[in-house]
Amino acid sequence: MSTTSTPEPTDADDDLERRAALLTGAGFWATKAGEGVRALALSDGPHGVRRQRGDDLGLLDSEPATCFPTGSAIASSWDADLVREVGVALGREANALDVDVLLGPAINVKRSPLGGRNFEYLSEDPYLAGVLATAWALGVQSTGVGTSLKHFAVNSQETDRMRVSAEVDARALREIYLPAFERVVREAAPATVMSSYNAVNGVFSSENRWLLTELLREEWGFDGLVVSDWGAVKDRVEALRAGLDLEMPGSGDEGTAAIVAAVRAGTLDRALVDTSLERLRRLADRTAARRDRSPAAGSGAASFDADAHHALARRAGAASAVLLRNEGGTLPLRPGQRVAVIGGFAVDPQIQGGGSSHVNPTRVDRPLDELRHALGEDRVPYAAGYAMDEADDGDGVDGGDGGDGAALLAEARSVAAAADVAVVFAGLAEAEQSEGFDRTHLELPAAHVALIREVAAAAPRTVVVLQNGGVVSLEPWHDDVDAILESWTLGQAAGGALADVLTGAVTPSGRLAETIPLALTDTPSYLNFPGENERVRHGEGVFVGYRSYTTTERAVRYPFGHGLSYTEFAHDGLAAEATGRDTARVTVTVRNAGAVAGADVVQVYVAPAAAPVRRPVRELGAFARVHLEPGEARTAVLELERRAFAFWDDPKGRWRVQPGTYEVQLGRSASDVVARVPLELEGDVDRPGPLSLESTVGEWFGHPVVGPVLLEGLLEKATPEQVEASEAGLKLVEGMPMAQFARFPGVEIPQETLDGLIALSLAQASA
Ligand code: BGC
Repeated sequence: MSTTSTPEPTDADDDLERRAALLTGAGFWATKAGEGVRALALSDGPHGVRRQRGDDLGLLDSEPATCFPTGSAIASSWDADLVREVGVALGREANALDVDVLLGPAINVKRSPLGGRNFEYLSEDPYLAGVLATAWALGVQSTGVGTSLKHFAVNSQETDRMRVSAEVDARALREIYLPAFERVVREAAPATVMSSYNAVNGVFSSENRWLLTELLREEWGFDGLVVSDWGAVKDRVEALRAGLDLEMPGSGDEGTAAIVAAVRAGTLDRALVDTSLERLRRLADRTAARRDRSPAAGSGAASFDADAHHALARRAGAASAVLLRNEGGTLPLRPGQRVAVIGGFAVDPQIQGGGSSHVNPTRVDRPLDELRHALGEDRVPYAAGYAMDEADDGDGVDGGDGGDGAALLAEARSVAAAADVAVVFAGLAEAEQSEGFDRTHLELPAAHVALIREVAAAAPRTVVVLQNGGVVSLEPWHDDVDAILESWTLGQAAGGALADVLTGAVTPSGRLAETIPLALTDTPSYLNFPGENERVRHGEGVFVGYRSYTTTERAVRYPFGHGLSYTEFAHDGLAAEATGRDTARVTVTVRNAGAVAGADVVQVYVAPAAAPVRRPVRELGAFARVHLEPGEARTAVLELERRAFAFWDDPKGRWRVQPGTYEVQLGRSASDVVARVPLELEGDVDRPGPLSLESTVGEWFGHPVVGPVLLEGLLEKATPEQVEASEAGLKLVEGMPMAQFARFPGVEIPQETLDGLIALSLAQASA
């Protein structure tokens, strides 16, 4: 091996090596100290602090911390103030556990209900996800702890996540997959952004300069640190060049050696190392402030108010559960009723999903205990209903519990028959919903379905309480039961939160942040999820979630935004007025017309003006939670931003608000519009673009200045018969490029005329 062409190492090289080495983690959960930069501790998120003391993945033995409702649950609260409060509590715990950066929020758009990490993510709607995640990040960071916005970008599936390329068109990227990230970056300035494992349109996120530098920093103004997802870096030099500052976890010296070699070979600008190190230094300085504030900084003997945080988890849980169905006022449960609690999840609640977000809870409330506490021990008999350790492969065949299963069902039937109301706890176990894999179907375990049907046949009234992180099918038992409470993965206070809602101590106010379809085959991504041959085509474009169902008028079981209450809300006087060329203010009065206090979620949707691209029939533009005592009325004022009206104009590479008439709609859900008012917007009035010979006949005649001139010229030489024929004929040739049309016999527009008109259009375009 010849070394003659390699320069001898110098002091500058040593310096470079020391600096470059800091851009790779020290291990799983810490950065290296050096060059005056202290070591930083990073821990998962998002719904609790998973502080590992050892340097390993050790998913189940982290320090005890509060397990708050997971993303799918808390998003159903549609309550930014509450999410912020949870964020503050998370920040306090991170402080107490000596964590500098909490790895969240996780905000990938839920493209398919099968997504393995849907329990961590917020919504199928980017506006809702963006607003809530902003509140989360602001809450955490108000305590001095940094956040990590993840997973950037288009990481909407687990299947093949470290190889797959998400193939997405520009409109879907801008309108669906990126806006939530953009909002958090612009409004909450997260300390870090985490690049995802997958590729976007063929380029790995961690090596994607467009994503990490042009979009994130240059367009959105991000000035924090970009960190890789754990193990997402394949080519360290390419990653640094793209704008990825910190590689996690530590990968030995390999990455550092590659950086040093590339700088020495002249293929990598050394300044990039300095810039990334500067960003790391800034992060250390920024989070150092929290160390000064935290009484237990670095001591390891820290504490937080576990009781207060448990109470917050209970309040957040109660606000997150969604009452899907409530026939004949079955809920709330009434004092004195005999309530049969059935199903093992009532004793062993499934409070979160599996994988890196798994929190070791400070304690766990059991729904059965809490219901007994609220209703009286002797009023609440219990039956297990199904075996807890049963593996269900979703093939519809019971997992082999045979005789035991039959005995459990028989016991459940008899307990149910002797009660006034049976409450069945069903759902998915943690092992069935986790990071690392997507689900392959939407079914509940067969034993749970069998139990629901048996109990429904035996009990005078049946309530189903669901615990599942991602959407499950409610078919075919839906019509057999009287009430359904979707509680998602509600966190460690699930028991108390559910008792509060079931007994009416708290009026349910959750609204679906994602659609519950009738069938998996109805879902917009069905044909393209999770992709094949290492590519996943996002063929449905911007028609994700309710944007698809409402536009194609496909029936769903429960639409986005749906959720019932124990009280009734009346809406009056919906009005919308423009506050600028492309913004508006909406007002509506909400009255609590029922007998108990409760919160309504005012949902404002925007139906687009006529546009040159196909747009969803409506999109969520603004929302507000309004808490009202019985008989109380309040006027909600909501602002519609420019983005609520805009679409991504791909050929021009920018947002566009079409001038024209929009409709502002008040929805009880995305499918149930209860009031609508028109709204005129001036929008973006563009100068017409220049014409060319490739522009179509329609474009030439449609040009506001050139069109009339052209028409006049043609009409001059035409006979009345030709004029009459040309009107019908024009439609026929509208799509034809002018180059061909101009040469047609009888048309014959001279080249110099065309040149003159092109010049005229150019002058107009740059006027
Ligand atoms: C996950 C991230 C997580 C990281 C550290 C990765 O596998 O995708 O969400 O923050 O591990 O645990």
